[in-house]
Amino acid sequence: MKVTLSHIKADIGSLPGHTTVHEDVVNQVRNHVKDHGKGIISDFHISSIGDDIQITMAHNLGINAKEVHGLAWDAFKSGTEVAKKLGLYGAGQDLLKDSFSGNIKGMGPGIAEMEITPRKSEPFIVYMMDKTEPGAFNYPIFKMFADPFNTPGLVIDNNMHEGFKFEIWDIIEGRNVYLNAPEEMYDIISLIGSKSRYVIKRVLTRETHQKLPDENVAVVTTDKLSFIAGEYVGKDDPAAIVRIQSGLPASGEAMEAFSHPYLVSGWMRGSFNGPLMPVGLKYSKMSRFDGPPKVGALGFVYKDGKLTGPVDMFDDPAFDGARKLASDIADYIRRMGPFEPHRLPDEEMEYTTLPKVMEKLKGRFVDMDSPQGSKNKGKKREAILDVE
Ligand code: F6R
Ligand code: MG
Ligand code: MG
Repeated sequence: MKVTLSHIKADIGSLPGHTTVHEDVVNQVRNHVKDHGKGIISDFHISSIGDDIQITMAHNLGINAKEVHGLAWDAFKSGTEVAKKLGLYGAGQDLLKDSFSGNIKGMGPGIAEMEITPRKSEPFIVYMMDKTEPGAFNYPIFKMFADPFNTPGLVIDNNMHEGFKFEIWDIIEGRNVYLNAPEEMYDIISLIGSKSRYVIKRVLTRETHQKLPDENVAVVTTDKLSFIAGEYVGKDDPAAIVRIQSGLPASGEAMEAFSHPYLVSGWMRGSFNGPLMPVGLKYSKMSRFDGPPKVGALGFVYKDGKLTGPVDMFDDPAFDGARKLASDIADYIRRMGPFEPHRLPDEEMEYTTLPKVMEKLKGRFVDMDSPQGSKNKGKKREAILDVE
């Protein structure tokens, strides 16, 4: 029988700024799901990273199920009431609409769900990131499922050797494409290297996979809050579910993809590049410059409706080196202050004063070929050549 894993997350208020969640709010969300989830879901787990609360659920209702989305929505709503009472910062910030209309998509919370045919043992890892965007998953998901230097199973395990299928979304134009690795690997990289526009939504096995043909094996939240709201309302911090083992990346291959603290966009005011630091969830406060961006990972197994676990996968000294390197990169890049490439390019900043500054300076910019600009005559072409 098919089973659905649904992971739904939202920032409904934090303390003191966008730093961390409050225990009372997390407990409220947990109690709500516990009290109202009977007959809807078979099991669940509540966790948090930074200022985001995460609900991981198992059920039989398929993806986009009204009851499951409604349960998560109502749980976040009731948590918001507690956050409001405590005066937490940004209480209810990701709940963009007043009422639930059947599907949580486009309403603010991030959703990663996949319908699966469970194996005898069904191990999977839920990854969650704070202070970054969905495209931050492109690099590690690609490494797990397509890079033999990360996942030697692609080369030495018969069950992985034929590779995987990637569903990639163009989140600006709202279209998608399926591409196969390894044969279309360069095309995949050419898209997903541009991570603010092309994001990996899903990974599937090939039809010829010997153990799990044509199955969903990884899914990422791809909800761009700023596009949903039409204005900046908070970073679209992403999450992902990745199935592991037995013809899929081993747990250690799935984790290895995060051993290099690569640069992601987000961090302070959603407007800076910074290193992604892997952390045990108890270390997921966003204290330094509202970050640095962090990733947490919880390992589960699913059996007969039950989720066993989780194991806090980054709570391991083996990742101390990555954390130290991330801190060193943070020291290095922070010294650039408001300059690119620490600051994001204009079109990617979540906060910007540029339109206002340009408005203010409107009358003071002078065409270098005009009479007023005559002392610069001849310089305009040079200036243009300089930037070409
Ligand atoms: C980034 C983030 C924070 C806030 C920053 C300013 O995703 O959530 O870095 O952008 O703390 O927040 P406001 O403008 O609410 O004071
Ligand atoms: Mg926030
Ligand atoms: Mg957040």
